[in-house]
Amino acid sequence: MEITKKNNLHGEVAWESPANIALVKYWGKLPGQLPMNPSLSFTLRESVVRIKMKYFLGAGSPAGLRSFNLNGKVNPSFQGRISKYIQAMQAHYPFLHNATLDIESQSTFPHSAGIASSAAAFSALALALGSIEVELAGSHNPDGEAFLRKASFAARLGSGSAARSLFGGFTVWGKSTLFPKASDDFAVKIPENEIHPVFRNLHDSILIVDDSEKAVSSSAGHALMDRHNFRESRISQAEKNLGHLMFALKNGDEQNFAAIVENEALTLHGLMMSSRPGYILMKPGTIALIDKIRDFRNKQNIYICFTLDAGPNIHLIYSDKDAEKVRPFIQQELLPLCVNGRWMDDGVGAGPQRL
Ligand code: DP6
Repeated sequence: MEITKKNNLHGEVAWESPANIALVKYWGKLPGQLPMNPSLSFTLRESVVRIKMKYFLGAGSPAGLRSFNLNGKVNPSFQGRISKYIQAMQAHYPFLHNATLDIESQSTFPHSAGIASSAAAFSALALALGSIEVELAGSHNPDGEAFLRKASFAARLGSGSAARSLFGGFTVWGKSTLFPKASDDFAVKIPENEIHPVFRNLHDSILIVDDSEKAVSSSAGHALMDRHNFRESRISQAEKNLGHLMFALKNGDEQNFAAIVENEALTLHGLMMSSRPGYILMKPGTIALIDKIRDFRNKQNIYICFTLDAGPNIHLIYSDKDAEKVRPFIQQELLPLCVNGRWMDDGVGAGPQRL
């Protein structure tokens, strides 16, 4: 932070924040971007967004977002969304009433990979806003629990799943009797000692089956849950799956882990198909990969499994201890089914970093 003249402050903060992959899915919301059911995810290591936020207070320019670019280019649709977000954040970060912001961002995962960068982007934005608030308050303890909780709360208001990107390892968002610390307002980290070592360094190999823009956005998909025939049963299923998954994570139960993770992925897509109107985001390549993955698991007795986001690409999840055996299988059997053999080699990450 620099003081250039009286009441005229400016400064710059930079953060790197990751995407996350949900194992129990957030699907359907309540007003205020609150989740219809609790979800559980792990934070990724390689799929990150880096942002540099410059702020100018009392500089005479109008408050709000002045410029935004992604990977060196102006991106009007994302800029509009972020501009609205920054405006809405005035309610939580009062300094925004008279701050002008310039934001530069970079993403390690191209938009064309069909992987949503919004969780990484909104968590990075929330962290940057939090850091500026701390700087302006002259506080020296920016990384405490309260800081991350507020960042998770603010990230959630940008994109629900972004609430879960603030912590390394495994995270729960959404209140649940099974995890009393969990809240609808922000996500919380599952303590490391609740995760068996076999799961601590999980791999997520993201296999790109299709890289076109998806036909139905997640927001539209969430909205279709409002009057979905299976709404109530989905809420209770998610609660049960969360409980069983946390038990499996703690006890190193790979067989149940795989069963629950795949059940959640297929339920998500089943809910899309049975919405009104129904829609399908999986592609023939998605099904072909699922068949191969299940076949490999049955024959090799190695508990690899898959999950899916709201899109056709497969996230292949496996333990670090099996990586050596899984790699040749990916190379030989799975990559030929991917667009130009494309994949991203990711896994459990340590969470955001101030740059
Ligand atoms: C299928 O967080 O992208 O990836 O809150 O409208 O921004 P908005 O939706 P978003 O939904 C993610 C849905 C999901 C499952 C999950 O990440 O839990």
